[in-house]
Amino acid sequence: MKLRKIGFDLMVYESVDELEKEDQILMIEAVKARNNAYSPYSKFNVGAAVLLDNDEIVIGNNQENASYPSGLCAERVAIFYASAKFPGIGIKAIAISATSKNFVVDKPAAPCGNCRQSISEYEIKQLRPISIIMSGETGEILKCKSVSDILPLAFSSAFLG
Ligand code: THU
Repeated sequence: MKLRKIGFDLMVYESVDELEKEDQILMIEAVKARNNAYSPYSKFNVGAAVLLDNDEIVIGNNQENASYPSGLCAERVAIFYASAKFPGIGIKAIAISATSKNFVVDKPAAPCGNCRQSISEYEIKQLRPISIIMSGETGEILKCKSVSDILPLAFSSAFLG
């Protein structure tokens, strides 16, 4: 048996002001977007903002449904919308932010597994990393330089032959 260690650099910021300007602008859009989430069931509002190579920012927020699994996370709403509106344009980054009507979200909202997989599809397709910037309402802000950092050993079209 061999042991293979997998690690990655996670950047930790004390506040939005500490982020690079481009990331700051993107996070502000994600924070704005979370206010328009449709989340009558969970009361957990997530906003996402995608920055494209053409400098467009496409936003999304979670859209829930009385039939719970029919709803969709903010990250996928945003990244699918970006690909629908600007097909083939490279994606630089996605910022994600969460708030709740029931409690203070005091730690960054990390994308769920399905969203990681969906972001990974575009990252692999464009052969360039998509950085992920995450925040809550308060507390630190996290950034990783590639979705592959938080989705190691990802499934991709390479497995399909
Ligand atoms: N949610 C997101 O929008 N993104 C995630 O990565 C995790 C969860 C949404 C889905 C649902 O509307 C609510 O948060 C509670 O799970």
